[in-house]
Amino acid sequence: MNRKELSASLAGDVSLGGEISVHRLGFGAMRLTGEGIWGPPKDRQAALTVLRRAVELDVDFIDTADSYGPHVSEELIAEALFPYPTGLVIATKGGWNRPGPNQWTHDATPSHLRKAVEGSLKRLRLDRIDVYQLHIPDPVVSFESSVETLAQLRNEGKIRLVALSNVTQEHIERACKIVPIGSVQNRYSFADREWDYVVNYCERNGIAFVPWFPLGAGKVAGEVLGRIAQAHRASPTQVALAWLLQRSPIMLPIPGTSSIEHLEQNAAAASLRLTKEEFEELSRVPQLVGSR
Ligand SMILES: NC(=O)c1ccc[n+]([C@@H]2O[C@H](COP(=O)([O-])OP(=O)(O)OC[C@H]3O[C@@H](n4cnc5c(N)ncnc54)[C@H](OP(=O)(O)O)[C@@H]3O)[C@@H](O)[C@H]2O)c1
Repeated sequence: MNRKELSASLAGDVSLGGEISVHRLGFGAMRLTGEGIWGPPKDRQAALTVLRRAVELDVDFIDTADSYGPHVSEELIAEALFPYPTGLVIATKGGWNRPGPNQWTHDATPSHLRKAVEGSLKRLRLDRIDVYQLHIPDPVVSFESSVETLAQLRNEGKIRLVALSNVTQEHIERACKIVPIGSVQNRYSFADREWDYVVNYCERNGIAFVPWFPLGAGKVAGEVLGRIAQAHRASPTQVALAWLLQRSPIMLPIPGTSSIEHLEQNAAAASLRLTKEEFEELSRVPQLVGSR
């Protein structure tokens, strides 16, 4: 496949907060870490190569979080890509910690978020983080106080755009009263449509929607998907990504992989167009029960 056919730019662009424009096919850097999103990758050089190849493929939006590793994903991004090419947007997150393999704990207190932003700035070697996402609302901390803290950090010049993850429409509406919201990241794929109404809300309000688990961790399957993939001489994961891109112009998928082959396959989905019938058939498949 030649370079022109393999470019994330073929997915078109989406605006983040009316301020930053990125190609609509990004990269998720969570699974570059060790098993259970814990510790260093088995093959550090391979992880660095995947990140560099993503940028060669015109990916200009990389999603990460302080908790991936913890710290490992952000450190790998800086090691692979600093000094960053112009236009590369790194979207990191805080407020959801990783105390051990496959474990998560909340902490979106103002004091923790301040420390988390300082830590991400240092690891990513940045003066300002382009997109900083509240990883998930903390059930024992006022949502407003978490968002107000990020708004203050934005006023201090440490964050360019505040964003949200794992939220309802009500959260977005409450946050927008405090600070403009650049993007919303929830779990979503053609087979996992719990957040359809949030996608619609984001579309109506010009907020980018970043679906996580866009490939169901590589396990998206099914007769319909397989048949459509065959018709396009594509893989099922490429069809799943093409469905997302067609679902809404504000959709910005961030498929994650530790493999160059999968990365290139995913990038090729940027130019895959489904027919209206194919899109609708996939939209009707029974919903999977998603899991982290
Ligand atoms: N906000 C949140 O709470 C949250 C939660 C989870 C994830 N995220 C973000 O979303 C990103 C994506 O989510 P995710 O990693 O859970 O799900 P995903 O992108 O749907 O799936 C990633 C998995 O699929 C496999 N894969 C990738 N491309 C493939 C291909 N072309 N063919 C076959 N298998 C393929 C990968 O394995 P290989 O490495 O073997 O390719 C990896 O195990 C993460 O990297 C992270 O940045 C955010």
